Amino acid sequence: MAGLNLLPALIDLVAVLLLALGIKGLSKVSTARSANGLAALAMGLAVLGLLIQQPLSPQAWLWIAIGTTVGGLLGLVTARRVPMTAMPETVALFNGCGGMASLLVALGVALYGSGGSPGLVEQISIVISVFVGAITFSGSIVAMGKLQGWIDTPGWTQSSLRHGVNIALAVACLVGALALPGAMAGSPLWLLVVASSLLGIGVTLPIGGADMPVVISLLNSYSGVAAAAAGFVVGSQLLIVAGAMVGAAGLILTQVMCTAMNRSLVSVLFGGALGGSASVGGGGDEAGYTRITSCSAEECALALEAAERVVFVPGYGLAVAQAQHALRELSKLLEAHGVEVSYAIHPVAGRMPGHMNVLLAEADVPYEQLLEMDTINPEFPRTDVVIVLGANDVVNPDAKSDSSSPLYGMPVLEVDQARQVFVVKRSLGAGYAGIKNALFELPQTAMVFGDAKVVLNGLLSELRSMGAGKKAAA
Ligand code: TAP
Repeated sequence: MAGLNLLPALIDLVAVLLLALGIKGLSKVSTARSANGLAALAMGLAVLGLLIQQPLSPQAWLWIAIGTTVGGLLGLVTARRVPMTAMPETVALFNGCGGMASLLVALGVALYGSGGSPGLVEQISIVISVFVGAITFSGSIVAMGKLQGWIDTPGWTQSSLRHGVNIALAVACLVGALALPGAMAGSPLWLLVVASSLLGIGVTLPIGGADMPVVISLLNSYSGVAAAAAGFVVGSQLLIVAGAMVGAAGLILTQVMCTAMNRSLVSVLFGGALGGSASVGGGGDEAGYTRITSCSAEECALALEAAERVVFVPGYGLAVAQAQHALRELSKLLEAHGVEVSYAIHPVAGRMPGHMNVLLAEADVPYEQLLEMDTINPEFPRTDVVIVLGANDVVNPDAKSDSSSPLYGMPVLEVDQARQVFVVKRSLGAGYAGIKNALFELPQTAMVFGDAKVVLNGLLSELRSMGAGKKAAA
């Protein structure tokens, strides 16, 4: 009997250890894939540990099997089909699912009990799980809808009316939460569910496009808090530990993103729809530029051939063009000719944390060549050629010098310090912040207009033919 009781606890312990190892492994691109496998194994063990503790009817087993199969298949198909550029929406959807799961667990215990009347800790956990779970669910669905372009920001959310609405909803949540412990399955429960769900919508709806990934990271943290609370509700140590880890990691990530975008969390949450996609500041269209130099892939290839040190700056456009493999080919060719190559990684280049690291890892770019902003910035003055590939805001020098710029104060890659800069993009169109980029008009900058993959392939063939020409001449 003691052995039987010990087994689930042992499985839980192994699962917690695997999960901790998995999360640690995620911090490095080289170990991230196997770490993900470890975390998935931990989750599988956790489910197993829980199931063997419960005496279940055949009907319950059937429902569990159906739910697992449908959920598993949906997750598999989504993970396989979603493009990297749509990852923030996907993460939002998964956060929403996490919030809903915690909400349903707490609702189930509140409505049907878990054998005996709930104690104080259980009651408080139910309140937290319902409140945070409902906010996470509705907020994440709104965030996903906004990123997909399905939901617009309504005008009233930009006025002070929204603060009034949200305060009223928060008060309703408080009333429901305070009344809930005495009346577990009564109307306070439903008041809390409805008011928290509406509050999730109310706080997410006004937030603008550029701030949305920060909110998603915050909602990710909330989903962890809701899961930890659900862990207290059902007495699962694993859920408590896993939820706490997700909650803490999400909060740290939110802070890192806020710092990298020069935004405070308060201004993200209460500042309204600032920084909507391609809408801030204006002046980002082609008419705003007067001193642009453009050049062909051939001229760019000549500069590369003469360079000793080259830095590539990947951005969102590189991901859109799926040009990471062509970039790796070009780097290999340059390295074979003795050129020192590195990649400058801005913390918010692309559309999600670590976007560029994942993209370049996919093309087997050695991890040591990816240099973070603080490491690479002092190196730019001794760099011969910088090639900016589909990046825009993260190399905008106005962020350092123009106090009227919406980007002012955001730490950027100081590519303007290099001897020569080539910017590869399709047009003079703006980036995510929707503003003009002073880099494009600097004397050392030349634009190479075109899709990143087409231009990189063009550079490859130019360099190869130059190499072949040299050999023939020799
Ligand atoms: P952006 O500033 O968005 O610029 C991307 C550029 O890529 C655009 O100017 C676009 O110009 C170009 N482009 C698009 N498709 C292309 C293609 N096929 N080939 C070549 N170029 C292409 O990107 P960034 O510099 O990576 O900056 C990221 C932005 O996202 C920042 O404003 C950041 O604050 C924001 N953001 C990021 C995150 C995270 S966590 N990464 C979170 C929230 C917000 P053309 O249209 O002219 O080609």
